[in-house]
Amino acid sequence: MNVYESIMTRRSTRSYTDEAVDPVQLEKIIDAGRYAPSGGNSQSTHFFVIRDQKLLQELAATAQAAFAAMEVEEGMYRSLAASINRSKAGNYCFYHGAPVLIVLANQKDYGNNIADCACALENMMIMANDLDLGTCWINQLKWLNEDPKILEIFRRYGLEENERIWGALAVGHAATEDGLPNREALPRKGNPVTYID
Ligand SMILES: Cc1cc2nc3c(=O)[nH]c(=O)nc-3n(C[C@H](O)[C@H](O)[C@H](O)COP(=O)(O)O)c2cc1C
Repeated sequence: MNVYESIMTRRSTRSYTDEAVDPVQLEKIIDAGRYAPSGGNSQSTHFFVIRDQKLLQELAATAQAAFAAMEVEEGMYRSLAASINRSKAGNYCFYHGAPVLIVLANQKDYGNNIADCACALENMMIMANDLDLGTCWINQLKWLNEDPKILEIFRRYGLEENERIWGALAVGHAATEDGLPNREALPRKGNPVTYID
């Protein structure tokens, strides 16, 4: 698959098998993220690669409790409202049960924190698709990036005082018949292009 094909066929995967991700493939995905551009070449994105299933379950339970304590408000971002509603109903797994969750943190007072994480996330998604692995951008830990319990969990693993989480990526084998991620591109309904010649 060339880069164009990998970009054009990348889709979000929200159902995964328990199969572990090959460490060599995972390293390639992480490298793809680490070699993404960064504002002023700051390279300050901190990658937490979580394969510990107990920790993932602890994160899911902690996030569920935090969302369940929130109330849906009018005009709220639809996905956040869905996280709240699903948490109140119980059994909410924000990372879709993927065997690997790559969580990206960066300095909270750095103006390109989200942009740098987004570049790394996109690189990792394109790399993973090329390796026949499914991925999905996971935003819930960003919404909870001031939650004391979530912060405490990541502090255990070296999240610095001035770092916050800005995005995450679920990675794993897609739970499809052939084990490959869905690669049927969604039609474009927006993203207008204005050529100025
Ligand atoms: C900034 C951003 C945040 C997203 N957050 C989530 C999320 O928290 N959970 C999720 O399942 N998908 C999330 N997605 C995936 C989008 O829902 C998905 O990319 C979009 O629906 C288009 O589908 P596709 O990725 O299959 O082309 C996010 C995507 C982006 C770019």
